[in-house]
Amino acid sequence: MLKKLEKLEKEALELIKKSHLADDLEKIRIKYLGRKGELSQLAKKLPALSALDKRRVGQALNKTLNTIENKIKKQTIKLVSNNNESELDQDEPALAINNFGHLHLITQAIEEISLIFEKIGFNRVRYPEVDWDWFAFEALNMPKDHPARDEWETLFIDLPKDSKMGKAVLTPHTSNGQVREMLRKNSQTPIRMINIGKCYRRQQDVTHTAMFHQFEGLVIDKHVNIQHLKGTLDHFAKKYYGPSAKSRIRPFMFKFTEPSFEVDFSCTHCAGAGCRFCKSGWHEVGGAGMVHPNVLKAGGIDPDKYTGFAFGWGVERVFTLKPGLELDDIRPFYGSNLEFLSNF
Ligand code: DAH
Repeated sequence: MLKKLEKLEKEALELIKKSHLADDLEKIRIKYLGRKGELSQLAKKLPALSALDKRRVGQALNKTLNTIENKIKKQTIKLVSNNNESELDQDEPALAINNFGHLHLITQAIEEISLIFEKIGFNRVRYPEVDWDWFAFEALNMPKDHPARDEWETLFIDLPKDSKMGKAVLTPHTSNGQVREMLRKNSQTPIRMINIGKCYRRQQDVTHTAMFHQFEGLVIDKHVNIQHLKGTLDHFAKKYYGPSAKSRIRPFMFKFTEPSFEVDFSCTHCAGAGCRFCKSGWHEVGGAGMVHPNVLKAGGIDPDKYTGFAFGWGVERVFTLKPGLELDDIRPFYGSNLEFLSNF
């Protein structure tokens, strides 16, 4: 048995020496030291031996076990520190730390967007990411089972329904902040809100991620009209993309605004002339419109006295349209490729 043990040890040490992968080392560990491994098989034979042999073989078994175990440990450290190429050179100077990290590109975009709106009197707010159906849909003039809801590929939370508020949802848009803001202000005007937050939808492709960000503007006061909306959109376009950027609005349908529009910004690559990137000279970024009287009512505001405008866009979307950034896949924003992320 001692001979057999010697042979096993030699064999195992040879194999360990030749291993260049952590996976191989683990296989060796299982083969020799595992519960059903070679050494366990030998240990099973111990009871049949004489008392003297039992002691001798038992000690030899322990010694072999420790030797193999230590060798595996040493080889593992060698693989990790040398990355399998050369011996670790302890005199080599450490790598200079020249990258201290920075805010994520979307956090930077959110800060830039907030600042543009704060400078013209908007107040940055945040509302829950998990909210009631009532704030996300019903208060926005979208009754239960209304087909318009289908567009917001909503993720529902598995919680008991509330009799007034309905189901809990992961907010599919930041528009849930509209009525929340009216209620927070006790239905008092003026309201100038910019709500930026995370949104969630059942979607995933090159231009959509299940988690993304939107920002929602809401202005309510006496005599607010479409010109104020258009002026605000143009102001944002110029501040965010540069002085020659323009915005345009096209008629559309949202249940929470009347009239409603889709908002486009002129292409920053071709200054609106039309190119491979935009085709038409414009990029659609989101929606906007004059707040529907039912939405004002839900927030306790008298639609005969007050009017308002609202808009909502994706942060990732407006960011990818920045001049010089020809980004057509937003998924790496939320990946872990630091080489990509450190470019921003
Ligand atoms: N919430 C809409 C969406 O996610 C965008 C939107 C459209 C926001 C019109 C608005 C608006 O405030 O007035 O598609």
